[in-house]
Amino acid sequence: MKDFSAAIVTVSDKGFSGEREDGSGDLLERLLLEAGAGSVARVIVPDERQQIVEALTRLCREEGASLVITTGGTGLVARDVTPEATLEVIDREAPGFAEAIRRESMKITPRAMLSRAVSGICADSLVINFPGSPKACAESFAIIRPVLGHALELLAGRGRDCAR
Ligand code: MTE
Repeated sequence: MKDFSAAIVTVSDKGFSGEREDGSGDLLERLLLEAGAGSVARVIVPDERQQIVEALTRLCREEGASLVITTGGTGLVARDVTPEATLEVIDREAPGFAEAIRRESMKITPRAMLSRAVSGICADSLVINFPGSPKACAESFAIIRPVLGHALELLAGRGRDCAR
């Protein structure tokens, strides 16, 4: 899939306040461009459910991004609310992405089970939660990468032929 529009939502109190550089966002932008994204929007929000909801709603329903990857806020502490915000925004869950990321990541680190990430469809956009660290982002992207093109073609109303 060429020239799809992508967006990255970095969910991080420290990133939002400027205390920490958005290394995961930078890495994901590079990976998405390498994967054929024609544009990559970048947003940083704090770990606040309402701000995550607003960013996702705008990117999916107004800007029509084909793929929105969030990074961060999927863990166990009280301020980790990215999955709840995502579930509030999506129309339908597409759990296979989050399931595959957790399953394959557990072969790398048992800590992968600490991520509560979800994935789904909002309007015509595919939304996938990634954990926050650059390492986890690189690993997660490598897991979804083989199926990304076909997923985006299906969502764009093309590539209905799944018999491959
Ligand atoms: N998944 C992969 N592939 N690699 C990792 O290093 N780290 C885990 C997990 N998932 C990790 C991973 C850890 S330590 C945590 S706490 C959770 O993701 C949640 O991370 P988050 O709160 O930054 O979203």
